[in-house]
Amino acid sequence: IREQTLVAVKPDGVQRQLVGEIIQRFEKRGFQLVGLKLVQPSRDVLSEHYHDLQKKPFYSALIQYMSSGPIVVMVWEGCDVVSVSRMMVGDTNPAAARPGTVRGDLCVHISRNAIHASDSVAVAKKEISLWFHGSELVEWESCT
Ligand code: CMP
Repeated sequence: IREQTLVAVKPDGVQRQLVGEIIQRFEKRGFQLVGLKLVQPSRDVLSEHYHDLQKKPFYSALIQYMSSGPIVVMVWEGCDVVSVSRMMVGDTNPAAARPGTVRGDLCVHISRNAIHASDSVAVAKKEISLWFHGSELVEWESCT
């Protein structure tokens, strides 16, 4: 089934100049980029994005880290893109992420894990509407 998902290169990934490498992995896999921007995320958007983690002990450090620099937010589209992206991204804890995954190849620490990808189709829909206006997304069918 054709789906869309939100992928973000976190501040550590942008600072370490991993944006190109990460985009390339999604392009090569065969997904289509339908939205892309570099943003300095506001705490308001981040608190909405991480709403479900509010009670976690690492929550304030997470918001601090995520607002520490620009991030690159993207919407990727394709067949089963939500689950395939999660597989490509690897375990939340980079130390446990398999080689071949973004985290397994490019980072080591859970609090600096370089990339985000939506964890379900329902969450992807919410996250895409949180980070993008409809007018910022393209339809590939109309781009031939
Ligand atoms: P992600 O899975 O993209 O979204 C939730 C984020 O919270 C996660 O990536 C990590 O960046 C962060 N996180 C999760 N667990 C921990 C933890 N135990 N310590 C610090 N950060 C964490």
